[in-house]
Amino acid sequence: MKDTVWLDEEKDLLMYIDQTKLPQNIEICSCDNIYDLHDVIKRLAIRGAPAIGVGAAIGLYAAAVRLGEQNVEEFLYSLDKFAEYLISSRPTAVNLSWAVNRMVKRAKAEQDGGVEHIKASLKQEALKIYNEDIQTCRNIGLYGEKLIPDGANILTHCNAGSLAAVRYGTALAPVYVAAEKGKKVAVYSDETRPLLQGARLTVFELAESGIDVTLQCDNMAASLMSQGKIDIVFVGADRVAENGDAANKIGTLGVAIIAKHYGIPFYVCAPFSTIDFDCKSGRDIVIEQRSPEEVTAMHYEKMMTHPNAKVYNPAFDVTPAELITGIITERGVFKPNELRNQK
Ligand code: MRU
Repeated sequence: MKDTVWLDEEKDLLMYIDQTKLPQNIEICSCDNIYDLHDVIKRLAIRGAPAIGVGAAIGLYAAAVRLGEQNVEEFLYSLDKFAEYLISSRPTAVNLSWAVNRMVKRAKAEQDGGVEHIKASLKQEALKIYNEDIQTCRNIGLYGEKLIPDGANILTHCNAGSLAAVRYGTALAPVYVAAEKGKKVAVYSDETRPLLQGARLTVFELAESGIDVTLQCDNMAASLMSQGKIDIVFVGADRVAENGDAANKIGTLGVAIIAKHYGIPFYVCAPFSTIDFDCKSGRDIVIEQRSPEEVTAMHYEKMMTHPNAKVYNPAFDVTPAELITGIITERGVFKPNELRNQK
């Protein structure tokens, strides 16, 4: 499969697989302006914390390189406005502001060279962020693989695989490395209501890679765990607080509570770009609320509830550090309470 997001260096375009079209179609799209990019991220055509960050960096470059005649001051002003608008597209995944702020910082550091020089530096920075993601996720895979026994059954929630990053993903990177090393692994994928990232994306990418994958509804995880069918849980994260509390796709908290009950190790896989040392605990993490239609109608043939139904639709929940066995990063595996020493 292609990378999830990349830069077309000849045309200066952000290229991406539209994840709303999967698994039926692998549709490759391009983007060159900030308004479309905001929309692409908001409606989850590019989604998953690392992919959002890399896509935002490349897209910001593609938009900035098209800014017309401007002096340095005007250019940096436009870039700041682009950045502010882009960051507002999704509030929880910290990789978005991390990547966008990194791009703006680089532009400002290069301002003495003039506008064309800043544009060239933005391209370099976007490519650096893209390449770093590939290496970072690979390293998460190498550390995480060591925790997987041969013959393991692994449960995952949402999609934190290659579609959620550039190439390897976070929670599925250890699975890919284990399979590469010849270990026998089987993955149980929660369907992940309401947007079905597990059913549509995780099952798709694992099946395409030839990895044994079984789909279950979210409310079946306890049944699996109670029968001893799950050896280990790997999930991703959208923002990890300094104390190790981790925000991830809604439903992750329930999985962690059940895993704790049955004594099953529960690992969060995340690059350091997902750790927000400005958030002291999970209470500081802003949780994105999404539209009611995602729950009532989106994946049904017709509206499946009363038209006046009030709907609760938070996109993420926060798993407290005490339910997390370890956080697998590109620098190694840490206990949640060890994170703050890594700042
Ligand atoms: O709303 P989404 O699909 O962007 O949510 C994605 C998740 O919750 C992932 O688990 C998380 O971003 C980590 S991706 C490596």
